[in-house]
Amino acid sequence: MLGNLFRSLRASRPAPSRGEPAPAEDEPSRRYRVALEDWRADRTSEAVAGCKAALELAPGFLAAHSLLATIDLPGEDYFRVLSRVHAHLKPRTYVEIGVATGASIRMVGSGTRAIGVDPEPRIEFEPDPYVSIFAETSDDFFARHDVRAELGDLPIDLAFIDGMHRFEFALRDFMNIEALCTPSSTILIHDVYPLDECTAARERVTDFWSGDIWRLILLLRQHRPDLAVHTIGAAPTGLAMVRNLDPQSRYIRDHLGALVDEYLALDFSVLDGRKAERLALFPNDWSRISALLDTPPAAARR
Ligand SMILES: C[S@@+](CC[C@H](N)C(=O)[O-])C[C@H]1O[C@@H](n2cnc3c(N)ncnc32)[C@H](O)[C@@H]1O
Repeated sequence: MLGNLFRSLRASRPAPSRGEPAPAEDEPSRRYRVALEDWRADRTSEAVAGCKAALELAPGFLAAHSLLATIDLPGEDYFRVLSRVHAHLKPRTYVEIGVATGASIRMVGSGTRAIGVDPEPRIEFEPDPYVSIFAETSDDFFARHDVRAELGDLPIDLAFIDGMHRFEFALRDFMNIEALCTPSSTILIHDVYPLDECTAARERVTDFWSGDIWRLILLLRQHRPDLAVHTIGAAPTGLAMVRNLDPQSRYIRDHLGALVDEYLALDFSVLDGRKAERLALFPNDWSRISALLDTPPAAARR
């Protein structure tokens, strides 16, 4: 739902409406409408103030959060970046955790053997024959299946983690996927660059919700310095690109409980004033991203 809203926000940047406000327009909606007009007219600070004013009145206002995220992370959204990564890497195999309606797995090329995992898939089209959907949690999927065999005895070339938006779930997904990769594979992780504390809560209280996946980036950077971790500043909430993977590494598996405890104990304030640096923000510029993808993984570490 969030992805769809973003795509429509970005696609439609027409001239500001001159129409009268709808008769039933409430104050948060009015503030948001003015903020949207300000944004379209490049009055960015006014647009941010307007969104915040709307959120003061209506803390869960999805459109206001979405506009703030679009302002915070300009450029192509995660969906477009993911599509470019597919076209650039042309992976032989792809695993996506969290497929929802299938909007992201749909962009897989016909040369890619793809697996989607989601306990409640709501695929809105007939998947191509090279796409398999597994209707189960990712933990069950990795425990029950010989994933390599499902992929025609190939490793995972590209993965996209976008399932349960809680840190420890994404950590296990990363751990399970890395074991099936090669050093030249790529793991993408969605929702790692939170807009604010409220929308990064572990318990979902807003429609716009990235959860606390941000903790995973801190963990990987701290405990796995061998990895190349970059967070592309793609709206709505960032897309991490992890390379130089080590399928033999047992570090996360052997320390799983302690790592979960250590990173769940972190307060959101650890990002105060240092969010970009701590989460390894990388410019959302395809020429820079593609150059990074073309860099040997070991040389891309930072
Ligand atoms: C944000 S949606 C995925 C959106 C999709 N990747 C896209 O970009 O269009 C998150 C999905 O994760 C699924 N999910 C929740 N818990 C999960 C789990 N334990 N394992 C795998 N998927 C899970 C949900 O059912 C939901 O469909």
